[in-house]
Amino acid sequence: MRDLRIGLVGVGWVGATHRTTLAETEGAELVATADVIPGRGDYEDWRAMIANERLDAVVICTPPMHHREPVIAAAEAGLAIYLEKPVAGTLDDAHAMSAAIAGSGCICAVGYQYRALRLPTNLRPRALLGRGLSDTADRSWFGDATQGGSQILERASHLIDLQRALAGDVKQVSGHEQSGLVSLTLEFASGAVGSIVVGRVPNGPGWSLDVVSDDGNVAIDLDPDPPPIRTSLQRFLEAVRRRDGSLVCCSLAEGVATLEVALACERAVRVGESVALTAAN
Ligand SMILES: NC(=O)c1ccc[n+]([C@@H]2O[C@H](COP(=O)([O-])OP(=O)(O)OC[C@H]3O[C@@H](n4cnc5c(N)ncnc54)[C@H](O)[C@@H]3O)[C@@H](O)[C@H]2O)c1
Repeated sequence: MRDLRIGLVGVGWVGATHRTTLAETEGAELVATADVIPGRGDYEDWRAMIANERLDAVVICTPPMHHREPVIAAAEAGLAIYLEKPVAGTLDDAHAMSAAIAGSGCICAVGYQYRALRLPTNLRPRALLGRGLSDTADRSWFGDATQGGSQILERASHLIDLQRALAGDVKQVSGHEQSGLVSLTLEFASGAVGSIVVGRVPNGPGWSLDVVSDDGNVAIDLDPDPPPIRTSLQRFLEAVRRRDGSLVCCSLAEGVATLEVALACERAVRVGESVALTAAN
């Protein structure tokens, strides 16, 4: 069988990680890259890359406010799409992308890679305690909510997504930000409570998730080998090879539902009040 031909849009921090995975994965070939910074990619305009190259799929690693246009163009070109999280900076962008992808029928995965972990399926969580306290690379948009780079979309949304995967729909959220740290509480429809603390902390304790249930307590290893960021991309490649979108770790619908909860958390922090989620998520 021939190799899948992949294009990469946005060759920054996470783009470099995916480039390494593609180089290490049999049956996939990174044939072209695009980045607005001259010299960083083969193309400065992803439109030219999509038009000129014969591609099966694109991996989109631009900052959140620059997901919409390349995703819609890729869907219209009939390409499979691995889209880095968060799906977008706004629900308007997310819904426009969802409509284009539904219209094209192409396979799409969202880069919430912790769904690639072997998660316990038999627990009924009562409490979920997540933290993401570590340093990270400087990026111009990181930390800027107007560019979709808030701590909540960038960091907490990983843990929101993982807690949703384990405990289901969220019905209400509240939150607080102080000294650069964000603390969130998620109330699940099941009655479970989720707690999340994130922030940029040099020499911090890192990322963790503990699940408390009547059937036992589980500490989920968020840093296993192989790394879930690699497994998640490889599962997408397998889904494309088999033409089976159900094989991806995080579907676009789940990614959009997580964005809804994350944006509700942003609002809760901004207004200082609990925010209810209106629909199932
Ligand atoms: N899954 C994860 O664990 C993980 C980790 C880090 C980042 N991310 C996500 O990946 C995305 C990128 O994050 P990053 O840390 O790599 O950012 P980054 O700033 O390091 O890289 C983004 C790259 O996109 C390029 N770019 C910006 N606009 C562009 C455009 N219109 N066309 C082409 N290139 C463009 C920039 O020049 C830059 O090289 C974000 O959505 C982020 O949330 C996910």
